[in-house]
Amino acid sequence: MLRLLHFHIGSQLTDIKRIKNAMKEAARTYAKIRQMGFMIDYLDVGGGMAVDYDGSRTSFESSANYNAREFANDVIYVIKTVCDDENVSHPTIIQESGRYLSAYHAILVTNIQDEIETVVEDLTPMTMGPDDPQVVRELYDLRETITAKNYREYYHDSLEHREELFTMFNLGLISLEDKGKGEVLFWDICEEADKFAQLKKYVSEEFDDLRRLMCAKYLANFSVFRSMPDNWALEQLFPIMPIHKLNKKPTEYATLCDITCDSDGIVDKFVDLHDVKPVLELHKLEKDQPYYLAMMLVGAYQEVMGNNHNLFGVPHEAHIFIGEDGHIIKKVIYGATLGDALSTVRFDAVQLHDSFRRQVLSRIRDGELSTKEGNQLIEFYEDQVDSYTYLWPNGQPTNPVTTKK
Ligand SMILES: Cc1ncc(COP(=O)(O)O)c(C=O)c1O
Repeated sequence: MLRLLHFHIGSQLTDIKRIKNAMKEAARTYAKIRQMGFMIDYLDVGGGMAVDYDGSRTSFESSANYNAREFANDVIYVIKTVCDDENVSHPTIIQESGRYLSAYHAILVTNIQDEIETVVEDLTPMTMGPDDPQVVRELYDLRETITAKNYREYYHDSLEHREELFTMFNLGLISLEDKGKGEVLFWDICEEADKFAQLKKYVSEEFDDLRRLMCAKYLANFSVFRSMPDNWALEQLFPIMPIHKLNKKPTEYATLCDITCDSDGIVDKFVDLHDVKPVLELHKLEKDQPYYLAMMLVGAYQEVMGNNHNLFGVPHEAHIFIGEDGHIIKKVIYGATLGDALSTVRFDAVQLHDSFRRQVLSRIRDGELSTKEGNQLIEFYEDQVDSYTYLWPNGQPTNPVTTKK
Protein backbone atom coordinates (compact mmCIF):
# COMPACT_ATOMS: atom_id res chain seq x y z
CA MET A 1 0.00 0.00 0.00
CA LEU A 2 1.28 3.48 -0.88
CA ARG A 3 1.48 5.55 2.31
CA LEU A 4 4.09 8.24 1.77
CA LEU A 5 5.14 10.78 -0.84
CA HIS A 6 8.77 11.89 -0.45
CA PHE A 7 10.97 14.51 -2.11
CA HIS A 8 14.26 16.27 -1.38
CA ILE A 9 15.40 19.15 -3.57
CA GLY A 10 18.90 19.66 -2.23
CA SER A 11 20.98 20.88 0.66
CA GLN A 12 21.58 24.45 1.95
CA LEU A 13 18.53 25.99 0.23
CA THR A 14 19.26 29.62 0.94
CA ASP A 15 16.14 31.24 -0.57
CA ILE A 16 12.71 30.63 0.98
CA LYS A 17 11.09 31.34 -2.40
CA ARG A 18 12.61 28.18 -3.83
CA ILE A 19 11.32 26.14 -0.90
CA LYS A 20 7.80 27.56 -1.23
CA ASN A 21 7.68 26.74 -4.96
CA ALA A 22 8.82 23.18 -4.32
CA MET A 23 6.16 22.82 -1.57
CA LYS A 24 3.43 23.97 -3.97
CA GLU A 25 4.42 21.35 -6.53
CA ALA A 26 4.72 18.61 -3.90
CA ALA A 27 1.38 19.47 -2.27
CA ARG A 28 -0.36 19.54 -5.64
CA THR A 29 1.17 16.17 -6.53
CA TYR A 30 0.07 14.73 -3.18
CA ALA A 31 -3.48 16.00 -3.73
CA LYS A 32 -3.71 14.64 -7.28
CA ILE A 33 -2.42 11.22 -6.21
CA ARG A 34 -5.06 11.10 -3.43
CA GLN A 35 -7.77 12.04 -5.88
CA MET A 36 -6.63 9.11 -8.05
CA GLY A 37 -7.61 6.87 -5.13
CA PHE A 38 -4.23 6.18 -3.54
CA MET A 39 -4.72 6.93 0.15
CA ILE A 40 -1.28 8.33 0.97
CA ASP A 41 -1.31 10.10 4.30
CA TYR A 42 2.31 11.20 4.81
CA LEU A 43 4.09 13.96 2.95
CA ASP A 44 7.87 13.91 3.54
CA VAL A 45 9.35 17.26 2.53
CA GLY A 46 12.99 16.10 2.76
CA GLY A 47 15.81 18.21 4.19
CA GLY A 48 17.50 21.31 2.81
CA MET A 49 16.91 23.85 5.57
CA ALA A 50 19.91 26.16 5.34
CA VAL A 51 22.31 27.24 8.06
CA ASP A 52 23.12 30.95 8.27
CA TYR A 53 26.87 30.47 8.42
CA ASP A 54 27.74 34.12 7.84
CA GLY A 55 24.92 35.65 9.87
CA SER A 56 23.83 37.92 7.01
CA ARG A 57 20.28 36.46 6.74
CA THR A 58 20.45 36.69 2.96
CA SER A 59 20.08 34.20 0.13
CA PHE A 60 23.89 34.27 -0.26
CA GLU A 61 25.38 30.74 -0.53
CA SER A 62 26.64 30.62 3.05
CA SER A 63 23.49 32.07 4.53
CA ALA A 64 19.67 31.72 4.62
CA ASN A 65 17.03 34.42 4.19
CA TYR A 66 14.63 32.64 6.59
CA ASN A 67 14.66 30.93 9.95
CA ALA A 68 13.11 27.70 11.24
CA ARG A 69 9.87 29.45 12.25
CA GLU A 70 9.36 30.97 8.79
CA PHE A 71 10.21 27.64 7.15
CA ALA A 72 7.62 25.81 9.28
CA ASN A 73 4.97 28.49 8.73
CA ASP A 74 5.43 28.40 4.96
CA VAL A 75 5.52 24.61 4.63
CA ILE A 76 2.32 24.19 6.64
CA TYR A 77 0.52 27.12 5.05
CA VAL A 78 1.30 26.07 1.46
CA ILE A 79 0.36 22.40 2.03
CA LYS A 80 -2.87 23.33 3.87
CA THR A 81 -3.91 25.86 1.20
CA VAL A 82 -3.36 23.41 -1.67
CA CYS A 83 -5.12 20.53 0.14
CA ASP A 84 -8.14 22.72 0.98
CA ASP A 85 -8.26 23.91 -2.62
CA GLU A 86 -8.22 20.32 -3.88
CA ASN A 87 -10.59 19.06 -1.18
CA VAL A 88 -8.27 16.37 0.14
CA SER A 89 -7.41 15.69 3.77
CA HIS A 90 -4.24 17.19 5.22
CA PRO A 91 -1.25 14.85 5.31
CA THR A 92 1.01 14.18 8.27
CA ILE A 93 4.12 16.16 7.40
CA ILE A 94 7.57 14.67 7.93
CA GLN A 95 10.72 16.70 7.66
CA GLU A 96 14.27 15.34 7.60
CA SER A 97 16.66 18.27 8.00
CA GLY A 98 20.24 17.14 8.56
CA ARG A 99 22.50 20.16 8.32
CA TYR A 100 20.20 22.44 10.31
CA LEU A 101 20.18 20.05 13.25
CA SER A 102 23.78 18.96 13.25
CA ALA A 103 25.85 21.98 12.11
CA TYR A 104 25.77 23.52 15.57
CA HIS A 105 27.02 20.50 17.45
CA ALA A 106 30.71 20.75 16.57
CA ILE A 107 33.46 23.33 16.80
CA LEU A 108 36.95 22.65 15.54
CA VAL A 109 39.58 24.15 17.82
CA THR A 110 43.11 24.53 16.54
CA ASN A 111 46.21 26.38 17.59
CA ILE A 112 48.25 28.72 15.46
CA GLN A 113 51.62 27.12 15.24
CA ASP A 114 53.59 29.92 13.69
CA GLU A 115 53.57 32.79 11.25
CA ILE A 116 54.94 32.32 7.74
CA GLU A 117 57.05 35.38 6.99
CA THR A 118 56.44 37.02 3.62
CA VAL A 119 58.14 40.34 4.23
CA VAL A 120 61.73 40.20 5.46
CA GLU A 121 62.53 42.63 8.25
CA ASP A 122 65.32 44.89 7.02
CA LEU A 123 67.64 44.75 10.03
CA THR A 124 70.50 46.83 8.60
CA PRO A 125 69.46 50.00 6.75
CA MET A 126 70.00 49.59 3.03
CA THR A 127 72.35 51.97 1.25
CA MET A 128 72.75 52.69 -2.46
CA GLY A 129 76.01 53.16 -4.31
CA PRO A 130 77.01 53.91 -7.90
CA ASP A 131 77.55 50.18 -8.50
CA ASP A 132 73.92 49.32 -7.80
CA PRO A 133 71.95 48.70 -11.01
CA GLN A 134 69.65 51.46 -12.23
CA VAL A 135 66.51 49.38 -11.59
CA VAL A 136 67.46 48.81 -7.94
CA ARG A 137 68.23 52.51 -7.47
CA GLU A 138 64.85 53.44 -8.91
CA LEU A 139 63.09 51.09 -6.51
CA TYR A 140 65.11 52.65 -3.69
CA ASP A 141 64.00 56.16 -4.72
CA LEU A 142 60.36 55.05 -4.85
CA ARG A 143 60.60 53.61 -1.36
CA GLU A 144 62.18 56.74 0.05
CA THR A 145 59.64 59.14 -1.46
CA ILE A 146 56.31 57.31 -1.42
CA THR A 147 53.49 59.37 0.18
CA ALA A 148 49.72 59.33 0.68
CA LYS A 149 49.40 61.38 -2.51
CA ASN A 150 51.55 59.37 -4.89
CA TYR A 151 51.24 55.82 -3.53
CA ARG A 152 49.06 54.51 -6.39
CA GLU A 153 51.44 55.73 -9.08
CA TYR A 154 54.52 54.57 -7.16
CA TYR A 155 52.98 51.16 -6.58
CA HIS A 156 52.36 50.79 -10.32
CA ASP A 157 55.94 51.90 -11.06
CA SER A 158 57.30 49.38 -8.59
CA LEU A 159 55.39 46.55 -10.28
CA GLU A 160 57.05 47.48 -13.55
CA HIS A 161 60.49 47.69 -11.96
CA ARG A 162 60.04 44.34 -10.32
CA GLU A 163 59.29 42.76 -13.68
CA GLU A 164 62.40 44.41 -15.10
CA LEU A 165 64.41 43.12 -12.12
CA PHE A 166 63.38 39.53 -12.87
CA THR A 167 64.03 39.87 -16.61
CA MET A 168 67.51 41.28 -15.99
CA PHE A 169 68.32 38.51 -13.52
CA ASN A 170 67.13 35.81 -15.91
CA LEU A 171 69.33 37.28 -18.65
CA GLY A 172 72.32 37.23 -16.29
CA LEU A 173 72.61 41.05 -16.26
CA ILE A 174 72.35 41.51 -12.48
CA SER A 175 73.58 39.46 -9.53
CA LEU A 176 71.55 37.44 -7.01
CA GLU A 177 72.39 40.06 -4.37
CA ASP A 178 71.01 42.83 -6.61
CA LYS A 179 67.84 40.85 -7.19
CA GLY A 180 67.48 40.28 -3.42
CA LYS A 181 67.95 43.97 -2.70
CA GLY A 182 65.37 44.89 -5.34
CA GLU A 183 62.83 42.45 -3.94
CA VAL A 184 63.21 43.76 -0.39
CA LEU A 185 62.64 47.29 -1.71
CA PHE A 186 59.60 46.16 -3.73
CA TRP A 187 57.93 44.61 -0.67
CA ASP A 188 58.72 47.71 1.41
CA ILE A 189 56.92 49.82 -1.22
CA CYS A 190 53.96 47.42 -1.17
CA GLU A 191 53.77 47.69 2.60
CA GLU A 192 53.70 51.48 2.45
CA ALA A 193 51.20 51.54 -0.45
CA ASP A 194 48.94 49.14 1.47
CA LYS A 195 49.03 51.38 4.54
CA PHE A 196 48.08 54.46 2.51
CA ALA A 197 45.39 52.63 0.52
CA GLN A 198 43.67 51.36 3.66
CA LEU A 199 43.30 54.92 4.94
CA LYS A 200 40.97 55.71 2.03
CA LYS A 201 37.18 55.49 2.31
CA TYR A 202 36.98 53.34 -0.79
CA VAL A 203 39.68 50.72 -1.28
CA SER A 204 39.97 49.76 -4.95
CA GLU A 205 40.18 46.14 -6.02
CA GLU A 206 43.90 46.17 -6.79
CA PHE A 207 44.67 47.27 -3.24
CA ASP A 208 42.34 44.65 -1.84
CA ASP A 209 44.42 42.09 -3.74
CA LEU A 210 47.59 43.69 -2.40
CA ARG A 211 46.23 43.43 1.14
CA ARG A 212 45.71 39.73 0.59
CA LEU A 213 49.29 39.45 -0.62
CA MET A 214 50.71 41.53 2.22
CA CYS A 215 48.75 40.08 5.08
CA ALA A 216 50.25 37.77 7.65
CA LYS A 217 49.97 34.05 6.96
CA TYR A 218 49.22 32.10 10.11
CA LEU A 219 50.06 28.43 10.13
CA ALA A 220 47.11 26.62 11.71
CA ASN A 221 47.59 23.14 13.10
CA PHE A 222 44.89 21.38 11.08
CA SER A 223 44.07 20.09 7.62
CA VAL A 224 41.42 21.89 5.57
CA PHE A 225 40.87 18.65 3.64
CA ARG A 226 40.22 16.66 6.80
CA SER A 227 38.29 19.15 8.94
CA MET A 228 36.69 21.77 6.64
CA PRO A 229 36.50 20.13 3.21
CA ASP A 230 33.52 22.25 2.08
CA ASN A 231 35.63 25.36 2.44
CA TRP A 232 38.13 23.94 -0.04
CA ALA A 233 35.69 22.19 -2.39
CA LEU A 234 32.71 24.57 -2.38
CA GLU A 235 34.22 27.77 -0.96
CA GLN A 236 31.66 27.52 1.83
CA LEU A 237 32.32 29.93 4.65
CA PHE A 238 32.48 28.96 8.29
CA PRO A 239 32.62 31.48 11.14
CA ILE A 240 36.20 31.54 12.47
CA MET A 241 37.39 33.52 15.47
CA PRO A 242 40.14 33.49 18.09
CA ILE A 243 39.30 32.10 21.52
CA HIS A 244 42.26 33.77 23.18
CA LYS A 245 42.86 37.45 23.92
CA LEU A 246 39.20 38.33 23.51
CA ASN A 247 39.68 41.35 25.74
CA LYS A 248 42.33 42.75 23.37
CA LYS A 249 41.77 44.40 20.01
CA PRO A 250 43.20 42.35 17.14
CA THR A 251 45.88 44.27 15.28
CA GLU A 252 46.85 41.87 12.49
CA TYR A 253 45.20 40.87 9.24
CA ALA A 254 45.87 37.26 8.36
CA THR A 255 44.92 34.36 6.17
CA LEU A 256 45.31 30.79 7.38
CA CYS A 257 47.50 28.04 5.93
CA ASP A 258 47.05 24.50 7.12
CA ILE A 259 49.90 22.06 7.78
CA THR A 260 49.38 19.94 4.67
CA CYS A 261 51.91 20.52 1.91
CA ASP A 262 49.10 21.37 -0.50
CA SER A 263 48.86 24.94 -1.79
CA ASP A 264 45.06 24.60 -1.66
CA GLY A 265 45.27 24.03 2.09
CA ILE A 266 44.44 27.63 2.90
CA VAL A 267 41.54 29.66 4.25
CA ASP A 268 41.42 33.09 2.65
CA LYS A 269 37.72 33.87 2.59
CA PHE A 270 36.00 34.82 5.77
CA VAL A 271 32.52 35.65 6.99
CA ASP A 272 31.60 39.32 6.72
CA LEU A 273 28.16 40.85 7.15
CA HIS A 274 28.10 42.62 3.80
CA ASP A 275 30.60 40.73 1.71
CA VAL A 276 33.32 38.10 1.96
CA LYS A 277 36.50 39.21 3.70
CA PRO A 278 39.88 38.18 2.22
CA VAL A 279 41.58 38.42 5.63
CA LEU A 280 40.70 37.77 9.26
CA GLU A 281 41.43 40.18 12.11
CA LEU A 282 43.69 38.36 14.54
CA HIS A 283 46.14 39.13 17.32
CA LYS A 284 49.89 39.32 17.04
CA LEU A 285 51.49 36.03 17.95
CA GLU A 286 53.64 36.05 21.05
CA LYS A 287 56.53 33.67 21.51
CA ASP A 288 55.60 30.58 23.56
CA GLN A 289 52.08 31.94 24.12
CA PRO A 290 49.30 29.65 22.86
CA TYR A 291 46.83 31.18 20.43
CA TYR A 292 43.78 29.12 19.54
CA LEU A 293 41.09 29.62 16.90
CA ALA A 294 37.60 28.15 16.81
CA MET A 295 36.03 27.15 13.52
CA MET A 296 32.31 27.04 14.11
CA LEU A 297 29.31 25.19 12.69
CA VAL A 298 31.37 22.32 11.30
CA GLY A 299 28.95 19.75 12.68
CA ALA A 300 27.26 19.08 9.37
CA TYR A 301 29.12 16.93 6.92
CA GLN A 302 32.70 18.17 7.55
CA GLU A 303 33.91 15.24 9.62
CA VAL A 304 32.34 12.59 7.43
CA MET A 305 33.35 14.27 4.18
CA GLY A 306 36.90 14.92 5.43
CA ASN A 307 39.62 12.94 3.73
CA ASN A 308 43.05 11.54 4.54
CA HIS A 309 45.01 13.93 2.31
CA ASN A 310 48.67 13.92 3.43
CA LEU A 311 47.63 11.29 5.97
CA PHE A 312 46.27 13.70 8.56
CA GLY A 313 43.84 11.66 10.62
CA VAL A 314 40.79 12.52 12.69
CA PRO A 315 41.65 15.06 15.40
CA HIS A 316 41.09 14.52 19.13
CA GLU A 317 37.46 14.91 20.08
CA ALA A 318 35.88 16.11 23.33
CA HIS A 319 32.18 15.73 24.05
CA ILE A 320 31.07 18.63 26.17
CA PHE A 321 27.87 18.90 28.17
CA ILE A 322 26.74 22.45 28.83
CA GLY A 323 24.31 22.89 31.72
CA GLU A 324 22.72 25.82 33.49
CA ASP A 325 25.67 26.26 35.81
CA GLY A 326 28.64 25.41 33.62
CA HIS A 327 30.04 22.69 31.45
CA ILE A 328 31.67 19.31 31.82
CA ILE A 329 33.78 17.25 29.43
CA LYS A 330 31.80 14.01 29.22
CA LYS A 331 34.09 12.07 26.97
CA VAL A 332 37.44 12.37 25.21
CA ILE A 333 38.16 10.34 22.10
CA TYR A 334 41.78 10.44 20.98
CA GLY A 335 42.47 11.20 17.33
CA ALA A 336 44.26 9.01 14.82
CA THR A 337 47.88 8.04 15.32
CA LEU A 338 50.51 7.83 12.59
CA GLY A 339 50.04 4.05 12.74
CA ASP A 340 46.28 4.44 12.13
CA ALA A 341 46.91 6.81 9.23
CA LEU A 342 49.47 4.45 7.68
CA SER A 343 47.12 1.51 7.95
CA THR A 344 44.49 3.41 5.90
CA VAL A 345 46.97 3.25 3.01
CA ARG A 346 47.76 -0.42 3.79
CA PHE A 347 51.14 -0.03 5.46
CA ASP A 348 51.61 -2.49 8.26
CA ALA A 349 53.50 -1.10 11.27
CA VAL A 350 55.13 -4.45 12.12
CA GLN A 351 56.46 -4.84 8.58
CA LEU A 352 57.73 -1.25 8.56
CA HIS A 353 59.52 -1.81 11.86
CA ASP A 354 61.10 -5.07 10.64
CA SER A 355 62.33 -3.43 7.49
CA PHE A 356 63.72 -0.43 9.42
CA ARG A 357 65.49 -2.71 11.90
CA ARG A 358 67.09 -4.65 9.03
CA GLN A 359 68.41 -1.42 7.50
CA VAL A 360 69.79 -0.21 10.85
CA LEU A 361 71.48 -3.59 11.47
CA SER A 362 73.16 -3.50 8.09
CA ARG A 363 74.48 0.05 8.82
CA ILE A 364 75.82 -1.20 12.18
CA ARG A 365 77.54 -4.12 10.44
CA ASP A 366 79.07 -1.72 7.89
CA GLY A 367 80.38 0.45 10.74
CA GLU A 368 78.28 3.47 9.75
CA LEU A 369 76.37 3.47 13.04
CA SER A 370 77.29 2.40 16.56
CA THR A 371 74.98 -0.08 18.32
CA LYS A 372 73.90 2.70 20.70
CA GLU A 373 73.01 5.03 17.82
CA GLY A 374 71.19 2.21 16.05
CA ASN A 375 69.10 1.47 19.14
CA GLN A 376 68.22 5.14 19.57
CA LEU A 377 67.15 5.37 15.93
CA ILE A 378 64.97 2.26 16.20
CA GLU A 379 63.38 3.51 19.42
CA PHE A 380 62.63 6.90 17.87
CA TYR A 381 61.19 5.37 14.70
CA GLU A 382 58.97 2.91 16.54
CA ASP A 383 57.72 5.53 19.01
CA GLN A 384 56.33 7.60 16.17
CA VAL A 385 53.74 5.01 15.28
CA ASP A 386 51.72 5.95 18.38
CA SER A 387 52.04 9.69 17.95
CA TYR A 388 49.36 12.09 16.80
CA THR A 389 49.31 13.12 13.14
CA TYR A 390 49.13 16.82 14.06
CA LEU A 391 51.82 19.04 15.53
CA TRP A 392 52.00 19.74 19.21
CA PRO A 393 51.31 23.34 20.21
CA ASN A 394 54.29 25.55 21.06
CA GLY A 395 56.01 24.72 24.28
CA GLN A 396 54.54 21.22 24.55
CA PRO A 397 56.38 17.92 24.21
CA THR A 398 57.36 17.00 20.66
CA ASN A 399 56.97 13.30 21.27
CA PRO A 400 53.40 12.82 22.46
CA VAL A 401 53.68 9.09 22.92
CA THR A 402 54.08 9.35 26.68
CA THR A 403 51.19 11.77 27.05
CA LYS A 404 48.68 9.81 25.03
CA LYS A 405 46.16 7.13 26.02
C1 LIG B 1 16.92 12.23 1.12
C2 LIG B 1 17.60 13.22 1.97
N1 LIG B 1 16.93 13.75 3.02
C3 LIG B 1 17.51 14.65 3.85
C4 LIG B 1 18.81 15.07 3.65
C5 LIG B 1 19.39 16.08 4.60
O1 LIG B 1 19.65 17.25 3.93
P1 LIG B 1 20.08 18.59 4.69
O2 LIG B 1 21.24 18.26 5.52
O3 LIG B 1 20.39 19.55 3.62
O4 LIG B 1 18.92 19.04 5.53
C6 LIG B 1 19.55 14.54 2.58
C7 LIG B 1 20.93 14.97 2.36
O5 LIG B 1 21.50 14.91 1.34
C8 LIG B 1 18.92 13.61 1.70
O6 LIG B 1 19.57 13.08 0.67
